[in-house]
Amino acid sequence: MNDKHAIHTTISTDALRVLERYEKELGAKNTVLERALLGMDKLRFKEKIDIQTISRMIKRIKVGIPGVDDLLEGGIPEGFVVIVTGPPGTGKTTFSLQFLIEGLRNNEKCIYFSFEEKAEHLIKQSMRFGWDIGNYMDKGYLEIFGFTMLSTEEIIEIFDVFKPKRIVFDSLNTFFEIGDFRRSPQWRNILKQIRERKIACLAITEKKHGLDVKEFDEFDFMGDGAIFFDKGQRHDLDPYPTYYLQIQKMRITKINEMPHPFIFTDKGLELIGSKTLVSRLSPTPIH
Ligand SMILES: Nc1ncnc2c1ncn2[C@@H]1O[C@H](COP(=O)(O)OP(=O)(O)O)[C@@H](O)[C@H]1O
Ligand SMILES: [Mg+2]
Repeated sequence: MNDKHAIHTTISTDALRVLERYEKELGAKNTVLERALLGMDKLRFKEKIDIQTISRMIKRIKVGIPGVDDLLEGGIPEGFVVIVTGPPGTGKTTFSLQFLIEGLRNNEKCIYFSFEEKAEHLIKQSMRFGWDIGNYMDKGYLEIFGFTMLSTEEIIEIFDVFKPKRIVFDSLNTFFEIGDFRRSPQWRNILKQIRERKIACLAITEKKHGLDVKEFDEFDFMGDGAIFFDKGQRHDLDPYPTYYLQIQKMRITKINEMPHPFIFTDKGLELIGSKTLVSRLSPTPIH
């Protein structure tokens, strides 16, 4: 140990080496550099604490699809826009409705901006899974808005009045030109509002290809997260396709990027292998 700097128990070995080199070159003590290095080390120390504190501070919104939250450290961070993408008929709308149902069951206000399907279709689709969305609409917790009749200003006004915790856009392709999307002032405005109001947002986009094609569009790059939906026969003899979802991206979250098979149950979607599925399929244990 160099006794000249014995006092610096808080300076790291690396910093001490830099200080010594400079002092040797200058032939004198350099108190400014010494202080700067001390500050730098403190910062590094602070950063270590902050990473842990920050992850504890992030509020996550449970997606509510059995198995999915386990892949996301508990859910989607609030204020995030998550792209739900894939070819048609792969479960994107069902997934997004189920995400709202989870919120509605916790008395959160939710909005479905349906630019693709009529409200009646969504209600009918929901009934299949026992989700009485008409009841939530009557109680004032759920709103379904059609697309073409709304401007950006109107959407923001709806946020103001309704104060939703969760929203879904189905789909962005019908609302925005993909080429100009990221630069679109309308979208930037909506995005800003979502972040400021800490809303959790699923934004559905359509793909012409499945998971086997590694091609990304403007929407994928913009999202704080992206979940890709697909289906396909696992082998030629399979009579039915298997449905999959893959979490491709989720900022500030450690993710499992495997494609996960899921099924349609009478209660909605469920990942194969999720805890509830296992407990529902296995016999009740005898004590
Ligand atoms: N038990 C089921 N209940 C409802 N839909 C099912 C079921 N099994 C398979 N499907 C299929 O899943 C698809 C669900 O579509 P949807 O969630 O609307 O997908 P997307 O929004 O990706 O087009 C439909 O094409 C439907 O035929
Ligand atoms: Mg759909």
